[in-house]
Amino acid sequence: MNILVINGPNLNLLGVREPDVYGSETLSDIENWLNKQPESNGNIIVWFQSNHEGDLIDRIHEAMGNSDGIIINPGAFTHYSYALRDAISSVNIPTIEVHLSDIERRENFRKLSVITDVCIKRVAGFGKKSYLIGLQALLDQ
Ligand code: DQA
Repeated sequence: MNILVINGPNLNLLGVREPDVYGSETLSDIENWLNKQPESNGNIIVWFQSNHEGDLIDRIHEAMGNSDGIIINPGAFTHYSYALRDAISSVNIPTIEVHLSDIERRENFRKLSVITDVCIKRVAGFGKKSYLIGLQALLDQ
């Protein structure tokens, strides 16, 4: 499968950003770790990160005809970006929403995701393993 892993705002600062919440590994560490998992074998996994809503939307559009599945950590856009939600529902590519932290057990504003119901699954609270569980879900569908 061709899989696109999209990370939204502030996830470029993983490793530095609130390590007590998000861990001490960088986004590249997580990418390298995921590439080494047996589930990655035989799949093409492309990573993309942006802090800009429009760039994330453009990348989702570009995935049409190129990607068989998307794993997305939308960062804070999770909680309010109807535009990102519409992009996901427009492209008809199976998409898994992932979060490092358990968004249901944090501040109230994080409990709402406007993304979840256009995704086939949400995985949250397992740190970097959320991405692996997301990959497994895409491979299993
Ligand atoms: C996050 C959770 C979001 O609420 C937050 O804004 C992030 C990261 C996570 O991976 O736990 O940027 O998506």
